[in-house]
Amino acid sequence: MPIRRSKVQVLVKWIFENQHKLQTVRYCSSSLRYKELEDSAAQPQPEHVAPPATAPSHKPRPHITPEISFKFDDLQVRLAAPYQLQPKPEAKELGFGKYFTDHMLKIYYHKELGGWQKPEIMPFENLNIHPAAKALHYAIQLFEGLKAYRGVDDKIRLFRPDLNMERMNLAAQRSGLPMFDGEELIKCFTRLVQIDQEWVPHSETSTLYIRPTLIGIEPTFGIMAPESALLFVILSPVSTYYKASTDGAVSIFADPNVVRAFPGGVGNRKVGSNYGPTIEATARAAKLGHHQVLWLFGPDHELTEVGAMNIFMVYINDQGEKQLSTPPLNGLILPGVTRRSIIELASEWDDLTVKEEVITMQRVIQLNKEGRLLEMFGAGTAVIISPISRVGFLEQDISIPTMKQAQPVFQRVKDTLLAIQYGHMEHPYAKVIS
Ligand code: COI
Repeated sequence: MPIRRSKVQVLVKWIFENQHKLQTVRYCSSSLRYKELEDSAAQPQPEHVAPPATAPSHKPRPHITPEISFKFDDLQVRLAAPYQLQPKPEAKELGFGKYFTDHMLKIYYHKELGGWQKPEIMPFENLNIHPAAKALHYAIQLFEGLKAYRGVDDKIRLFRPDLNMERMNLAAQRSGLPMFDGEELIKCFTRLVQIDQEWVPHSETSTLYIRPTLIGIEPTFGIMAPESALLFVILSPVSTYYKASTDGAVSIFADPNVVRAFPGGVGNRKVGSNYGPTIEATARAAKLGHHQVLWLFGPDHELTEVGAMNIFMVYINDQGEKQLSTPPLNGLILPGVTRRSIIELASEWDDLTVKEEVITMQRVIQLNKEGRLLEMFGAGTAVIISPISRVGFLEQDISIPTMKQAQPVFQRVKDTLLAIQYGHMEHPYAKVIS
């Protein structure tokens, strides 16, 4: 005889099978679920966290405005309470990026809310982002690095911040992150530095490093332009980036088996994915007694960058002139602000020829053998100038006479940059902000 189910049994079976559609049944089905809901109701809700992309939308869609950038004029400031202020470390303890100031800047972008939201300066805090945020999975992010210098006149200066903004927007474009008006961001983080100005070290060997960062926070797994993003700026008082040898020079290891960048890639954009994958090679170089990796490219072993810096070489050229050379911006090279400034400044010096040219390892070895290679050095915002005295390449250990020059170009370049940055000389590259 067929089993006859009662209407109640049929209803119960239907409810079990369809409970995912019935919010009330789902809530009742687990006391844990109730607990979760209570807990989350009790938590202060993070500001501006993007709605999950899958959430049903009961609200009328917000009015979409054709905004292209956030504006400094909309900046809101919430200052830290006295108990939130951190003690300032001694200059000798600073290192690089270990301490952070009392405030930060945040600017959210939500496509659904019309794009960029109002910039906010607030007490420094941890970020609260969804574990599915695209930045965490697909490295949809970028960062910048520039510094605020306290000059001899006690004025605070930025160094060519417009170039960082240009580069930041290029990286945003490449990663599908929202672009913005760089001038507006400069004004916003200038205000941040002014608020935390006591964190700008009173020293010419330390500075305040400014780290603007833009991350995709849309919590969905699709590899596509994020509809929500967060631009934040944090500040860190810093001194030296890394330890060199006692004479101040570094030894570098050129390993032809690893590449940092390739044609059509993102070697020319400041994105985190250019830096994380360098760690293993750098550790291997360290094991062999070197400080940094010299990044090569192609069958001719072209020099591209060194560590996280641009590379320069000084030698006597075929015409007998002293020449300062660096590889051209061919897509493999980060357009460094220090790099560009060195090229521009040194081009004004009568006793030096300046060239952007492809440099191969063979050329380095040949010039060195002929006694024409004078110096090699790395240049970047964090390190400023880092002279190089040794290159490990295949089985060779090549000594570079950088530290043996009577009046080295690297020192002249460094002194000039520092003189501009610390206000020893007035120069259009330096922008007084306080
Ligand atoms: C900089 O010179 O600012 C850099 O890019 C180094 C940074 C990755 C620590």
